[in-house]
Amino acid sequence: MAEIATIILAAGNGTRMKSAKPKVMHTVCGKPMLWHVLSAAKQLGASKNVVIAQEAHQDVQTLAKSLGAEIAFQTQQLGTGDAVKAAQKALKGFDGNVVILAGDCPLISQAALAELLEELANCDIAMLGFEPLDAAAYGRLVVSGNTVERIVEFKDANPSEQQIGLCNSGVYALPAKLLFDLLNDVKNNNAKGEYYLTDIVQIAAARGLKTNFVVAAEEEVLGVNTMAELASAEAAMQEILCQKALEQGVQMIAPETVFLSADTKFGTGVLLQPNVVIGENVEIGDNVTIGPFAHIRAGTSLAAGAKIGNFVEVKNSIVGEGSKINHLSYVGDAELGEGVNVGAGTITCNYDGFAKHKTQIGDGVFVGSNTALVAPVNVAAGAIVAAGSTITGDVAQGELAIARAEQKNLADGAVRFKKKRQK
Ligand code: UD1
Ligand code: CA
Repeated sequence: MAEIATIILAAGNGTRMKSAKPKVMHTVCGKPMLWHVLSAAKQLGASKNVVIAQEAHQDVQTLAKSLGAEIAFQTQQLGTGDAVKAAQKALKGFDGNVVILAGDCPLISQAALAELLEELANCDIAMLGFEPLDAAAYGRLVVSGNTVERIVEFKDANPSEQQIGLCNSGVYALPAKLLFDLLNDVKNNNAKGEYYLTDIVQIAAARGLKTNFVVAAEEEVLGVNTMAELASAEAAMQEILCQKALEQGVQMIAPETVFLSADTKFGTGVLLQPNVVIGENVEIGDNVTIGPFAHIRAGTSLAAGAKIGNFVEVKNSIVGEGSKINHLSYVGDAELGEGVNVGAGTITCNYDGFAKHKTQIGDGVFVGSNTALVAPVNVAAGAIVAAGSTITGDVAQGELAIARAEQKNLADGAVRFKKKRQK
């Protein structure tokens, strides 16, 4: 099979999002949309992934580089055709096939891309079409048989073309050389005054080339232009992730109330109670129980048999084997050993207004209820912290720490108080 490169369009302004953030950096299931698209691109085994970015969008570039992609800059947002052209230099001398993906198409599936590449064996340009429930403002495919004659943007479509239900997903495959050749002929005489990538289809058809399409499911190719569509993409991907987790043997009592991240890792025998939210980069070990109403935030690892109960938030922490944080607690930037018992209402005070500090809790430690652990602090193995303590200093192995005001009982105090009030 021919060598593959991908071009990922991520330089748009995302005006319709009404957000200061670049569109492709908005997250779906805990990860930026561009992360999802690049992950799919990488799975294709492409020899090069080129992300088209704006020079001002540093975070887009950082993310793209962190996933091993190359960056090409589009200096002015003159349309998708112009954006693809920006990749020409990066792909100089490349003689294989190119898959073009949009950075705002986060659900793009391997299965759909495989079908697309398979179809390319039968034609010069292959594209992914789909039939959404609401065709909205997607470009429409004007077809005859399984050939696309042209793609017409909604704004340029006549009333009968607007009735077409078959839409353009914005995902295409074609030989690199042909792509850049066709782009030379693209003009900007349309409703938006932009260079439309979609025009390459009509230009190719006029040259007698074969321009085929395959149909993908809506959940595989839906595009995100607005916050409403971002929410739809989130819902669609959450459902896919939940299904996968269930198939993997994760028990969920109310999966529709559970929110996972695209990279959540599960062991076996995991139980997620209702209303659990899991951030990115979280690992959940064998036989862990979480919830109801728990928030496991980014960078947390829960070892086998750990138990996180109601109204508990855990962030960037390691919870050792069989350790329990059962009620109403915040544990952040902490490392808990094995068999630790964290009492109700325990709080790690990890932030001093400037920096985050670490809390270390050794194996078998018992932390009494309503304890504040003021980090940085280290409670060594086997120690006990008395309920209601504010721990500001380290506790050594086997020690019992009590850090609370001593109780004073006034004899007859209650009787005297009541008398005074009743006068
Ligand atoms: C595009 C297609 C439309 C298709 C839809 C699928 C064109 C002209 N239209 O429309 O047929 O149905 O996608 O979702 O291609 N971008 C740049 N530089 C630009 C403009 C856009 O990098 O100058 C990037 C955007 O960041 C985005 C992608 O290209 O990731 C698509 O652009 P967008 O403006 O969202 O195109 P649509 O209007 O959705
Ligand atoms: Ca779009």
